[in-house]
Amino acid sequence: MKRISERIFYIGVNDDDKVLFEGLWPIPVGVSYNSYVVADEKVALIDTVESGFEEEFIANIEEAIGDRQIDYLVVNHMEPDHSSLIAYMQGRYPGLKIVANAKTVPMLKGYYGVSEEDVLVMPEGGELSLGSCTLKFYMVPMVHWPETMVTWLEEEGTLFSGDAFGTFGSIDEDVIDDDGTFEQFRDEMTRYYACIVGKYGIPVQTALKKLGGLPIKRVCSTHGPVWEKNIPAVVDLYDKMSRYEVERGVCIVYGSMYGNTAAAADALAMELDALGVPYAIHDLAGNNAGELGLSGALRDVFRYDTIVVGSPTYNNGIYPPVETFMKALQARLIKDRRFYAFGSYTWAGASVRLLNEYAASLNFELLGDGLSFPQAYTREKVDMATVAKMLA
Ligand SMILES: Cc1cc2nc3c(=O)[nH]c(=O)nc-3n(C[C@H](O)[C@H](O)[C@H](O)COP(=O)(O)O)c2cc1C
Ligand SMILES: [Fe+2]
Ligand SMILES: [Fe+2]
Repeated sequence: MKRISERIFYIGVNDDDKVLFEGLWPIPVGVSYNSYVVADEKVALIDTVESGFEEEFIANIEEAIGDRQIDYLVVNHMEPDHSSLIAYMQGRYPGLKIVANAKTVPMLKGYYGVSEEDVLVMPEGGELSLGSCTLKFYMVPMVHWPETMVTWLEEEGTLFSGDAFGTFGSIDEDVIDDDGTFEQFRDEMTRYYACIVGKYGIPVQTALKKLGGLPIKRVCSTHGPVWEKNIPAVVDLYDKMSRYEVERGVCIVYGSMYGNTAAAADALAMELDALGVPYAIHDLAGNNAGELGLSGALRDVFRYDTIVVGSPTYNNGIYPPVETFMKALQARLIKDRRFYAFGSYTWAGASVRLLNEYAASLNFELLGDGLSFPQAYTREKVDMATVAKMLA
């Protein structure tokens, strides 16, 4: 528990045990599920945390408000990392009213059997007085689900933003950001956005425009630190990512069964290094434990303007983990990127051609036909020095 202001308390938890967020995305530095109490004449809870943390959650609540009743539970977002303790909270705090928008009502019933009488349905711009302060609700559809809304507390200049401005990474006891906190979380915020919200650039832009006029002094997201000092940097990063804005640099992404495509990828990285070109390299085949794999690759797709993909030919196709990556680019509507493909085959190469077809479907700028090479990588066969110069 951490007191954020006169009325606001942080009552979220860190999850340092989960290996894969959504069963997909590695979280080597954990994640936090944030929940908040606004304690006024009435007490409102903003979202809950994931199930499994009941004890810690209740201890945090009791540390914040003792044995006071909770009057309202505001449900900004129904993804179970925030909603899965709703029924538990109803059981624990009889009389608790759930505050949600109309789109949320059937989801509340479907997930947790919540009956409509227990829900105070809020329209866009609806208000709920807690006594000396008032909560106001704005819809932000598809950030990250269609029912998602944010909650604005005017008297505190505080935006409870749901997954927007969220990041992977556990947070320390201070909860509130410091000068260096943005830099500390930048990579994990980018990776979170790329993996979780990256498909919804246009809705994020719509939400940013809608909320842009609010005099925001504090952002309380559902994942990561509470932002006070770094709000311009955090908003700027989300703005850039949702506009697919990138910097010059190369994201090398490859998969390899027997190391030949991998050797070519490493050779390209060395050449880029020698030329001083910023780059990142990601192995999708899971050969190296602890690597971020697909999630790291997607992070750097949201960072660099050039994507170079390596895949061996596999049953006349693209090596499956690399194809998953290409589909992930399509799903995220990635645009305005330069592209180059390479890979090893043995009897009839197909992967490079197919990768180029994916890239063409995304309107990427193809930087050449690519480099499809038979069998082993050698310097003579696979001229990555020339490729690196072209990418620079
Ligand atoms: C299951 C499997 C399927 C393959 N399918 C093809 C194929 O359709 N065409 C081809 O030319 N080579 C095929 N190959 C050969 C690989 O492309 C070749 O071994 C390549 O050098 C592997 O690159 P790597 O060392 O980067 O994994 C296949 C290999 C395996 C193991
Ligand atoms: Fe979510
Ligand atoms: Fe979430």
